[in-house]
Amino acid sequence: MMVTRRALLAASGAALAAPALAQGEAAKVGLILPMSGPFASTGRQIEAAVRTFLRMSGESHGGKKLEIVLRDDTGVAPDVTRRLAQELVVRERVRFLAGFGLTPLAFAAAPVATEAKVPMVVMAAATSVIVQRSPFILRTSFTLPQATMPIAEWAAKNGVKSAATLVTDYAPGLDAERAFKERFTAQGGQVPLELRTPLRNPDYAPFLQRVRDARPEALFIFVPSGEGAALMKQFAERGLREAGIRLIGTGDVVDDDILNDMGDAALGVVTSHHYSAAHDSAENRAFREAYGQVASNARPNFMAVGGFDGMRLIAEGLKKAEGNLDGERLLAAMKGQSWMSPRGQITIDANTRDIVQDIHIRRVERRDGQLWNVEFDRVPQVRDPGT
Ligand code: PHB
Repeated sequence: MMVTRRALLAASGAALAAPALAQGEAAKVGLILPMSGPFASTGRQIEAAVRTFLRMSGESHGGKKLEIVLRDDTGVAPDVTRRLAQELVVRERVRFLAGFGLTPLAFAAAPVATEAKVPMVVMAAATSVIVQRSPFILRTSFTLPQATMPIAEWAAKNGVKSAATLVTDYAPGLDAERAFKERFTAQGGQVPLELRTPLRNPDYAPFLQRVRDARPEALFIFVPSGEGAALMKQFAERGLREAGIRLIGTGDVVDDDILNDMGDAALGVVTSHHYSAAHDSAENRAFREAYGQVASNARPNFMAVGGFDGMRLIAEGLKKAEGNLDGERLLAAMKGQSWMSPRGQITIDANTRDIVQDIHIRRVERRDGQLWNVEFDRVPQVRDPGT
C-alpha cells in the first residue's frame, strides 16, 4: 500500500513536474554580433535595441521566457561566425539565431540554420540574396537595392544628370552600385565613373580625388555603418562640395550613430533609407525614449531598429506558436507578420521572408543644435526588387 502510494505520488509528481519543466524552459536566442573590431558600433547598437525591446515588452512571450545568449564574432571572420552559430545550436540549444552584422557573416551562418532547422533573424546584413541562402532566414533590416532605387530616382527627377558611384567592394556595395546605375540610367542619367573601396582599412582620399577630377554633378555613396565619419571628413577635406559635387547615397553614410559628430560637412546631404531617428511617430518617440534609457542617452540608428524589430518578430512568433519551440513551427509563425515599427509599417513577406517597408528621402539639417536626417518624401511599401 505504502509502496503503491509512494509510486503514485512519485508518478503524479513526475507528471506535474514534466509540464512545469517544459514551461520553465527558456526560449534561447543566440545573438551573434560584432561587439569588437571595426564594426563594433553595429553590435553595440543592436544589443542595446534587443535589451530595449525586452524592457518595453517584457521577457515572457507565448508562455516562454526569452533568454539572450550573446556572442562576439569580431565582424571580420566568417569562420568564427559559423563556429559560434554551431556551438549555440548544439551546446546552448538556442531556438533562434539572430544578429549578423555583415553579409559575409550571414552567409557563413546560413547552412547552420538550415541543418539545425532553427529560424535565423538577420537584423543588420543587407545584400539582396541573403534570404535565399536558407529557408530558415527572415530579415528585419533592409536590402541595398530597396534603399538605393528611391535615391536614384530622386536624383534623376531633381535635375542630376551625371553621378559617379563609390561603394565598398563587397556584396552589399555591388548591390548598391548595380541598383543605382540601373535606375539612374533608366531615367536618363549618366554614370561616368564607378569606384570601389576596400572593406578593410579603406583610405578614401585617392578615390575622392578621382571623383573630383571627373567632376560629376553628384557622387552616390554606399559604405557600411560606421564608415561614414571617415568618408565625410575626406569629402570635406578634398573640397568636393566646393567643386560643386553633391553627395547622395543610401542612409548608411549618414548613420545616426555618428551623424551628430560630422559637423557642417554633412549639412544638405540627401539620402534614402528605411529609418531615421528623426522619424515623426509615436512609436519612434517611445522607442527612442526607451533606447536612451538602456544606452545612456545614445541615439538609435538603422541597425538598432533592425535589432528591435527582430526581437519583436521572435516574440510574436513565439506567441503565435503558443510557446512551441519546434523550429519549423516557429518559422511558420514568423512568416507574414506585419506591424507598426518605429520606422513605419513593415511586413515580413510570407514567401520571400524579406522585409517590405517604406523608404524615405531625407536631408541632413540642423535642428535645436543637432544634426538629423529629416524625412521629406516617402516611397511606400518597397520590396527588394530582386525578390
Ligand atoms: C552588410 O554587410 O550587409 C551591411 C553592413 C553595414 C551596412 C549595410 C550592409 O550599413
